[in-house]
Amino acid sequence: MPHVARVRGLAYGPVMSAAATDIRPMIDPFGRTVDYVRLSVTDRCNLRCTYCMPEAMSFLPRQDLLTIEELDRLAALLVQRGVRHIRLTGGEPLVRRGIIDLAQRLSRHLQSGALEELTLTTNGVRLRQHAQGLAAAGIRRINVSLDSLDRATFARIARADQLYQVLDGISAAQDAGISVKINTVALKRDNAAELPRLIQWAHESGMDITLIETMPLGLVEEDRTDQFLSLRDVRRELASYWTLTDVADRTGGPSAYVRVTETGGRLGFITPLSHNFCESCSRVRITCTGTLYMCLGQEAAVDLRDPLRASTDDRLLDASLDRAVAAKPRAHDFLTPVRGAPPAVARHMSMTGG
Ligand code: 5AD
Ligand code: SF4
Repeated sequence: MPHVARVRGLAYGPVMSAAATDIRPMIDPFGRTVDYVRLSVTDRCNLRCTYCMPEAMSFLPRQDLLTIEELDRLAALLVQRGVRHIRLTGGEPLVRRGIIDLAQRLSRHLQSGALEELTLTTNGVRLRQHAQGLAAAGIRRINVSLDSLDRATFARIARADQLYQVLDGISAAQDAGISVKINTVALKRDNAAELPRLIQWAHESGMDITLIETMPLGLVEEDRTDQFLSLRDVRRELASYWTLTDVADRTGGPSAYVRVTETGGRLGFITPLSHNFCESCSRVRITCTGTLYMCLGQEAAVDLRDPLRASTDDRLLDASLDRAVAAKPRAHDFLTPVRGAPPAVARHMSMTGG
């Protein structure tokens, strides 16, 4: 194995065991170890959520995407570099051909113990078809994005009448033994009034649920400020009729969780416009074209596709990872949404992965 790009200042000498020598952790300038990667496998999606992408979204040519083999090779190197948790995302990962094949390949790292967890974020539309395959590949937890339980509202937000497919997909995943967490983007106009019902439903169905504030990522038709709903206000309202108790347990993600006494379930809040989770951020994102973004809310990026394609040797790729980690920003700089302002970050969430 090439040892060209060791983390400076760390002595991984021959005295260490073979397994320990093989892992060369990625530590950023702020001392955070990068052990979590969100890997986007496609920018395509079978929905068109209004806050996420324009209805006539243009997608990338297929040859720009990393192949399943390239994704597999990249993941193997990331695991060698100390990544313990890989989340497959999109776009919608279940529309990518070969996704189950990829998950199966990645499961070897779970079996070896090098990878702690393989997870997936999906809109759930194709979950019924794939639930068994995902479970067989060792996926134990998934996030399903769902913004409404009302058929017409769902259809308006997602611009597709697919609520029942999603609900059916969730059941299929649970039947396959996969634990499901619901992600709901809080939207002032479309689902603000429905949030308590969504939370109640999730908790009754044995699922955690996390509310997300809209983020200024990529152009969409509407002005996102019209739909921006502060989770601070949502929380205050929920607390007026429910008992919310902070829970310390973190799932490695940016959610701050509370326990709702009345429902017995966990409720998370992702408030990206505050910096509350940047400090402990151990994650990076890789787009479906192999661009590594050190932060969802920053433009700093390093291309991994060229080094992947330039040689079958991992040395170039390894060096690119080192360059990337050295440039991980301390925090994002999303601003509080300003009416009429262009998005803080030009790329859509579907490019970078949610
Ligand atoms: N702001 C907030 N959440 C978004 N998502 C997609 N685009 C945005 C955005 N601009 C959400 C999806 C999903 C998660 C992966 O990201 O709804 O829950
Ligand atoms: Fe697709 Fe998710 Fe974007 Fe909706 S939010 S259009 S499901 S990628």
